[in-house]
Amino acid sequence: MRARHAVLAEGLRKTYGTHEAVVDLDLAVDPGETYGFVGPNGAGKSTTINMLCTLLRPSAGRAEVAGHDVTRDPDSVRRGIGLVFQESTLDGELTAEENLRFQADLFGMPRARARRALADLLDLVELTHRKDSPVRTFSGGMRRRLEIARGLLHMPRVLFLDEPTTGLDPQTRVAIWEHLHRLRAEQEITIFLTTHHLEEAENCGRLAIMDQGQLVVEGTPAELKGVVGADLVVLRTGDDERAAHAVRERFGLEARTGPDGVRLRTPDGAAFVPRLCAELAVPVHSVTVTPPSLDDVFLHYTGRTIREADGPRQPDFGPRR
Ligand SMILES: Nc1ncnc2c1ncn2[C@@H]1O[C@H](COP(=O)(O)OP(=O)(O)OP(=O)(O)O)[C@@H](O)[C@H]1O
Ligand SMILES: [Mg+2]
Repeated sequence: MRARHAVLAEGLRKTYGTHEAVVDLDLAVDPGETYGFVGPNGAGKSTTINMLCTLLRPSAGRAEVAGHDVTRDPDSVRRGIGLVFQESTLDGELTAEENLRFQADLFGMPRARARRALADLLDLVELTHRKDSPVRTFSGGMRRRLEIARGLLHMPRVLFLDEPTTGLDPQTRVAIWEHLHRLRAEQEITIFLTTHHLEEAENCGRLAIMDQGQLVVEGTPAELKGVVGADLVVLRTGDDERAAHAVRERFGLEARTGPDGVRLRTPDGAAFVPRLCAELAVPVHSVTVTPPSLDDVFLHYTGRTIREADGPRQPDFGPRR
């Protein structure tokens, strides 16, 4: 029987002493979705994934993954999921193929099936040519790809990825996403991931923004950005003060002057610019129109940018280990 939801959580909660790491979380992810959990350090993302993967017992509430209850039937949940941890868990002394074979043995996969799956997956993540090299000789991106392959070996229905690309350079990040998109196209699988890269979150069908243990808002990237609603228009003009004044008077929009020029927000920036230039009695030297970003969304809901919320640690700029 197919589960109606790939992941379902109701009132899920985790408390460490008096600290509430995850507070009354409700969520429902459909089979085949790519669902992203976005939030700064300490938001409760890994704690949530660990509860969903049966590695951590919820303090309250319930969750079902791949159709099974995480507390009552953890073994069935484990058979239905693949997991890529935030920290690498590959054995550097073993080759890529040996790492996968070890996992196949753990899952008791029949030899012939394991051999086929192993070859297909090494192909999918483009590591066939390195299958006999010890993993300690792999780059960060290659390790990540191998871990994703390992997570898929027993053909799980739901793949959990905790920060799949943290510590990787932008090019490798894009390559990993190409693999994930290909995987989605080739196999019917649900992907549940956490990230604090907002650009990466754009790859998800649906997102939940998490902050301080709470799910703040949920929706498609377009829906979330739609809530912020307005493009940012920045004008460089011959006289910024006069231009800002004219924008306020003629268009009734809030306009501010700053070092980069006149800044204003309006829903359809591209259509607004020609009208603005026609009616503004000040020479316009340049215009940029920037659609709302997920960072704007985060700011809108939490009052902080995600980088401010991350505090002094800056995982965007290097590996965390
Ligand atoms: N074993 C633990 N004991 C006590 N507190 C913990 C434990 N694990 C996590 N926490 C706390 O719970 C909160 C959520 O942590 P969690 O690891 O889930 O955050 P995260 O969103 O995954 O952050 P990051 O982006 O840094 O990975 C943090 O305040 C953390 O300090
Ligand atoms: Mg984490």
